[in-house]
Amino acid sequence: MTDPLKDPTPLQPNYLPENLYNRQEEQKPLENLTSDNSAPQNLFLHGPRGTGKTHVTHFALEKSDRKCYVPCTQHDTQYKALKQILRGLNEEVNDGHHTSDLQRKVVEKTKAVHTVIILDDIDFLLLNDGDDLLYFLTRMETRNSVDLVLISSNHTGLKSQIEERTYSSLQPQRINFEPYTAEETYQILVERARKALVNQSLQKAALTYITSTTQNISVGLHWLKHAAETTDSVITESHVQQVQKKAYEKYAANLLNRFTEHHRLLYQAIRELDVEENTIKTGKIYTRYEELCKAYNENTLSKRRLSDYLKHLELVDLIEAEYHYGGSKGKTRDVNLVTL
Ligand SMILES: Nc1ncnc2c1ncn2[C@@H]1O[C@H](COP(=O)(O)OP(=O)(O)OP(=O)(O)O)[C@@H](O)[C@H]1O
Ligand SMILES: [Mg+2]
Repeated sequence: MTDPLKDPTPLQPNYLPENLYNRQEEQKPLENLTSDNSAPQNLFLHGPRGTGKTHVTHFALEKSDRKCYVPCTQHDTQYKALKQILRGLNEEVNDGHHTSDLQRKVVEKTKAVHTVIILDDIDFLLLNDGDDLLYFLTRMETRNSVDLVLISSNHTGLKSQIEERTYSSLQPQRINFEPYTAEETYQILVERARKALVNQSLQKAALTYITSTTQNISVGLHWLKHAAETTDSVITESHVQQVQKKAYEKYAANLLNRFTEHHRLLYQAIRELDVEENTIKTGKIYTRYEELCKAYNENTLSKRRLSDYLKHLELVDLIEAEYHYGGSKGKTRDVNLVTL
């Protein structure tokens, strides 16, 4: 009996491999951004979760030394995003400035120096005042020295989420990240497994089961890692099936790390209710959430805030929601938990 795990690092979702499999076409327009003399460009990278959008961007722009990476899950207002952009330009700013001060600083800092600004998971910013930020970035004085990379996995396109005037000054070049096939998923995961696991410790049928169940590489990586951690012999198909649910929980927990304790409580409320019924009304979710807050000694947030937080869970694909408008309660939602 031997532990199949040789080195867990290649199975970590933030591990950047030396080569990305089959994404050369998507990589090319990003690599072109680092050549200084081209006209400013706006790229819009779009595709389902776990298709390599973030890593392809990091990979292609590795050599560019003037880039500002903004994960909009955390920096979801114009103010926070501007602060993060300035951080990328080596300018730390305290709170208490006016938005226009920060805008002015961005203009100063991007004068004559080619800069790439990456707004990852931009949908979170567009829930707030992201449109104003995009409008500013596409119209600012130093526009010619700035390229924009917008990344989204939202099902609705960019056009319907921003104002017409913003879209027309943005005119983004769209780069689609098509979902991987089961075969491509296999190739990507087997490469990671080779680096992370002891020889002969993963049965082909086990990996085939994973790659036919999910084509989200992040889910696959969590699954492989959890399977390896929970056996001290060969990883078999039946072991992989046994840990399927738990592995997805690990993936979800990792996603939720970027958010607040209240996002986690809300998600826990939905998971608990999902055991009892398939489609869950928002009213029930809020009640269960309040009970959980009491149990954990947390203050409860307003329904308004919780409604935003539910939208966040929907954007990261942990839940699906169907909206109903009208009636005495205004907008209500039927929520379904997404599972593997
Ligand atoms: N073509 C590929 N070759 C090797 N590894 C890949 C490839 N595509 C994705 N991965 C790996 O899959 C994981 C998920 O990739 P990434 O985070 O870039 O996806 P994403 O599309 O940004 O997902 P999300 O929308 O959830 O943010 C990473 O560990 C990444 O290294
Ligand atoms: Mg990403």
